[in-house]
Amino acid sequence: MHSAQRLPAEVQYADELNHLAENDTYKKPQGWKLSPQAVKTFILGSNKAIGNRSIAKKIHGNDALVERAIVTLAGQRGLLLVGEPGTAKSLLSELLAAAISGNSTDTIQGSAGIVEENIRYSWNYALLLKEGPVLDSLVPGPLYRAMKHGRIMRFEEITRCPTEIQDNLIPILSDRILQIPELKQDEDKFLLSQKGFNLIATANLNDRGINEMSSALKRRFNFETMQPLKNIQQQAKLIATQANQQLASAEIEISASDDICQLLATAITDMRTGHVEGLSISPLTNVLSTAEAISVLYSAALESHYFGEQTIRPKYIANYLIGAVCKDNNDDIKRFDDYKNAIKRKRNDLPLWQDFIG
Ligand SMILES: Nc1ncnc2c1ncn2[C@@H]1O[C@H](COP(=O)(O)OP(=O)(O)O)[C@@H](O)[C@H]1O
Ligand SMILES: [Mg+2]
Repeated sequence: MHSAQRLPAEVQYADELNHLAENDTYKKPQGWKLSPQAVKTFILGSNKAIGNRSIAKKIHGNDALVERAIVTLAGQRGLLLVGEPGTAKSLLSELLAAAISGNSTDTIQGSAGIVEENIRYSWNYALLLKEGPVLDSLVPGPLYRAMKHGRIMRFEEITRCPTEIQDNLIPILSDRILQIPELKQDEDKFLLSQKGFNLIATANLNDRGINEMSSALKRRFNFETMQPLKNIQQQAKLIATQANQQLASAEIEISASDDICQLLATAITDMRTGHVEGLSISPLTNVLSTAEAISVLYSAALESHYFGEQTIRPKYIANYLIGAVCKDNNDDIKRFDDYKNAIKRKRNDLPLWQDFIG
């Protein structure tokens, strides 16, 4: 029905969210669409059916963190999700905003080029010339929209923004007022945030910028660190569900078997730890996140699909892994060959691994 490449969580999961709202019997914070209990069920899933349906788990391996994140958002402070790339910080922030506010699109993507106007509001210059500085000439930014409608605003990769831009959020988080001094009418000169407004920011630990957040702003956030999945089984399962979902939605008739996902999760772990069945190999410079693993699998599936294979070939996985892990680092390409040699010695009797090393 939808032809969009990717739907926001509140559209993708509209049925689940409606169902949870209809069956929600717990207390709701003011301005929230769902109770904290129902938000938690939406994100962490539920084994026993709610009403007549079960809810799928969407974030794995960080259950206690998810609960604390929900509690933080019901309080006075913002939520800052930190962690390595690909640990589902963005996904969690989107799911939280969708469940709490019914809208995850009041979002700004942090970058060096972000200016205040991108976050707060800007002007429609044609109208500004014609009508002057009145509300109609104002173009609301994500912060304005979230405050006005009492929703969660998402600030992705906040530490990629210059510190002085980040610091615009300090008065917002403490006073919950947005000043708009340009407007003509006195009553328009400030916007009071409505109940339900709060802020979720994300930051990658690998970005050097993380230290450049002012301590005044840090004090206004609760920090939560998202951990990568450590267990191979868990990783394999996550890779399988996500990749198969993506393949199904692209109407590609090939799916990833448990074996192939297990192989991929094992390969990533081998490369991260530098061990193959007791044999040491030099670890690669880049570790692969679960998110990247999913896209490696997806690419391998496409190659198998378009080049006439019935199942996903480990050989293709190996080829896309090289691109993802080694990028343009020649030493890493050599280390990947060492890894293949280690597999030749330790797993040569296993057909899937034989195909992997080619
Ligand atoms: N612990 C996890 N639980 C669920 N999905 C995960 C997890 N870790 C990674 N993923 C997958 O990785 C994808 C990308 O994660 P993303 O939210 O973009 O990471 P980040 O913002 O931390 O870089 C997610 O959409 C999800 O498919
Ligand atoms: Mg992200």
